[in-house]
Amino acid sequence: MSEIERISTGVEELDRALEGGIPKGSWVVVTGEPGVGKSILCMHFAYAGLKAGDPVVYVTTEQEYKDVVTQARQLGMDLSRYRMYNIAWRREPEELPEIVVVDIFGLLKVARQMTEKAREESPEKVRRYAALSMDTLIEAINEAYSVLEVAKERGTPERHVRLVIDSMSAFWVDRPVMARKYSYQLKIATHRDNVTALLTSQYAPTTGQAYGFGLEHIADGIIHIWMDDVETAREVRRHLIVVKMRMTNHSRKAFDLEIETGKGLVLRQ
Ligand SMILES: Nc1ncnc2c1ncn2[C@@H]1O[C@H](COP(=O)(O)OP(=O)(O)OP(=O)(O)O)[C@@H](O)[C@H]1O
Ligand SMILES: [Mg+2]
Repeated sequence: MSEIERISTGVEELDRALEGGIPKGSWVVVTGEPGVGKSILCMHFAYAGLKAGDPVVYVTTEQEYKDVVTQARQLGMDLSRYRMYNIAWRREPEELPEIVVVDIFGLLKVARQMTEKAREESPEKVRRYAALSMDTLIEAINEAYSVLEVAKERGTPERHVRLVIDSMSAFWVDRPVMARKYSYQLKIATHRDNVTALLTSQYAPTTGQAYGFGLEHIADGIIHIWMDDVETAREVRRHLIVVKMRMTNHSRKAFDLEIETGKGLVLRQ
């Protein structure tokens, strides 16, 4: 009945809980403590896109992309089958890539280029860009978009792109009060109608405060994952809940979540 185009998360049960998936063009934040499965959800989302023919922009600040590939393979997802281009590479892509990776090396390269440009523009007072800054991230994502040729050109149909940012927390570790401002800045600069984004945010177990430290203000959807207290439960018991999803009559009940070799995230209600 609905005219909303829905984008698969790559996890069947979760898609069902979302009336088929995430509304196209949404920005969805995945929050939770370390080790709950946020990065694995990102892999499912990217893999589902690649299988469906969607180009993917994969920002990973947590690990090198080769480690993402290794982890995904253990969980039944073979990312290595797809043409990858890392923006840290010196050479231009020969063919249109299916996945464009922005890792810490790519961010370092972009930050250096931006600093160099600032030096040319005003040699007397050079602005230095850090790898883990919002300006650098925005520039890197826009570079990835242009590699994928998704920029709006008259006459060319736009392809649907999946954007993964794992994690946003790295960009404000030293300045958590800036999280809200940075999130707005990022969304304004990189949001497109044909881009559906999944962003992760660590949730401080010590304070247990606000979902994504400001990231929730830009979120069209929030998926939260948590663990029971391990000392009481004496095992790792994970749960996942869809806290919000715009334009969606989503399931309001939490799922039990398991991470299984060969399968990845498995949800049960
Ligand atoms: N092959 C596997 N089989 C079963 N469980 C696994 C496997 N690989 C990883 N896990 C589980 O997944 C957890 C890591 O999940 P993930 O990396 O997605 O967490 P995260 O929420 O991204 O954490 P962080 O905030 O630290 O980045 C591991 O601690 C382990 O319990
Ligand atoms: Mg992670």
